[in-house]
Amino acid sequence: MRVERSNKNQEDPYLPRMRESIEKVEATREERIDQEVEPLDPKTRDKVLNEFHPDYIESAFREVNVGPNAGEMMPKELVDLLEAYPKYDPSEVNLAKVEKEVDVLIIGGGGAGNIAAYWAVQEGLDPSDILIATKLRNGDSNSVMSQGGVQAADREEDSPVQHYLDIMGGGHYANKPDLVETLVRDAPKMIEWHEDLGVIYDKDGDGAMKELHGGGTSRKRLHSAKDYTGLEIVRVVRDEVRNMAIPVKEFAPAVELLTDADGTVTGALLFNMETDKYSVVKAKSVILATGGFGRLHIQDFPTTNHYGATADGLILGYRAGANMLDMDTVQYHPTGAAYPQQIMGLLVTEKVRSSGAYPVNSEGEFFTFNLEPRDVEASMLIRECRDVEHGGRDNGVETPGGITGVWLDTPMIDMKHGEGTFEKNLEYIYRLYTRFGIDPTEDPILVYPTLHYQNGGIEIDNDGHTAVEGLLAAGEVEGGVHGKNRLMGNSIMDYNVFGRRAGIAAARRAKGESEWGEVSLEHVERYVDKLRESDVDMQKRSPMLIPDYRGERTQGRTLDLLDPS
Ligand code: FUM
Repeated sequence: MRVERSNKNQEDPYLPRMRESIEKVEATREERIDQEVEPLDPKTRDKVLNEFHPDYIESAFREVNVGPNAGEMMPKELVDLLEAYPKYDPSEVNLAKVEKEVDVLIIGGGGAGNIAAYWAVQEGLDPSDILIATKLRNGDSNSVMSQGGVQAADREEDSPVQHYLDIMGGGHYANKPDLVETLVRDAPKMIEWHEDLGVIYDKDGDGAMKELHGGGTSRKRLHSAKDYTGLEIVRVVRDEVRNMAIPVKEFAPAVELLTDADGTVTGALLFNMETDKYSVVKAKSVILATGGFGRLHIQDFPTTNHYGATADGLILGYRAGANMLDMDTVQYHPTGAAYPQQIMGLLVTEKVRSSGAYPVNSEGEFFTFNLEPRDVEASMLIRECRDVEHGGRDNGVETPGGITGVWLDTPMIDMKHGEGTFEKNLEYIYRLYTRFGIDPTEDPILVYPTLHYQNGGIEIDNDGHTAVEGLLAAGEVEGGVHGKNRLMGNSIMDYNVFGRRAGIAAARRAKGESEWGEVSLEHVERYVDKLRESDVDMQKRSPMLIPDYRGERTQGRTLDLLDPS
């Protein structure tokens, strides 16, 4: 039965044919509410991935010809940036004029950068000997935008071993085992640290942490702060950084690392986005904390990512000789907003499914377990939407913008857990939709996979060291922890664990160096020689810094995954 709209004067935000499909969803809801859907068996999971996951579209990948990963396949959009000439104008750069000498330079002001800075001070550095240089404002990052929660095995019925097994399974066993072990062992301590600092996690009436399942987890271990988890953690950590008076340079992206004659990283070339001037910062340790590549719109997907996620750290680190892991996989979050057009691609947190909502098709039928590992769940949604001619089931709902999605049956949450649950626990999502006249406690919302995360990245060891002396990495820019597919809630823990470890290791290294090294761009010149040998188009430049939305490209692309060729 059609639910009465809360605002009767408001026009229906859904088109009549969408409303017809919603009526089918409503008609089956009572019957579905207590129905159990089984997860797929491993063989079927593999089959679905092979047939429907975008990572299996070979033509979307290209071999990289230069640098430490030469010979490997990566998304074309990334290879275009790796095989590109430097952006800086050599006539404007004066390496002899050093603006600042610091012990630790942290490139990036998201979760990993702020946490690294905090822990470098705990390791004994004077705050004034650290610099956070960031492309946008301090805090602008995916870390702030992360919603659903953070995993840590801190309940009696759970254990770090169980957490380890889930991560390895989710990552298709391609993960670096020692990094996974480090993450799961450190995770409970990081939650305690957050609480000591004042992070407000969701608790029940007895003060016990409320913990939920995420996709692919065998235990409930997702800690959340409503659906603002990342915002809450960064709010608290960034306040600490401010209180310690750690210097931050905003709108100052690094456009190149600087190295000495041995290839050790000795600083970075920063670019002031307000004055267009370059400056040289020397450092005894440099931490890349620049985040991932989600704004590259790989395979033309819309994205959940913030504007700065343009792979800059990967490009800089790679030119300096740092190798990358698992760059042949990309994470598409199963539930990006598909409608209305204004919010297309934005994240609809997995916590909506953890809280009891299921994806259903245009006929109001279940077609998947709601908490498969991310890559499998995304593939199931793609299969349901793709037309029969291309192997799909053609059970999606088309939007006026020309994309097809499935319903996420959000009213199931209040039906299962009581009125008011959705609005209380999923406040952001509630506000996101009600702004457009859609009440997710009354009507389902339309979703389709969206580009969300860089599964791989620069290889690190347990303390965040890369293969390049003097260079560390933390957060989404580094790789190895998640293998070929990250599970929900492990990225927040990743930037916490390895941000902390990189901050400590960078401080230790700096304390052991009495002098700053020489700075040069020789490693870039050597890289450019290789590009010339490979006949790379001279017009191509990187790092990208800011995505270019002029011309035809928009976040609301015309999705054409129906033809994978
Ligand atoms: O669905 C989410 O809230 C996303 C979380 C994550 O990527 O870890």
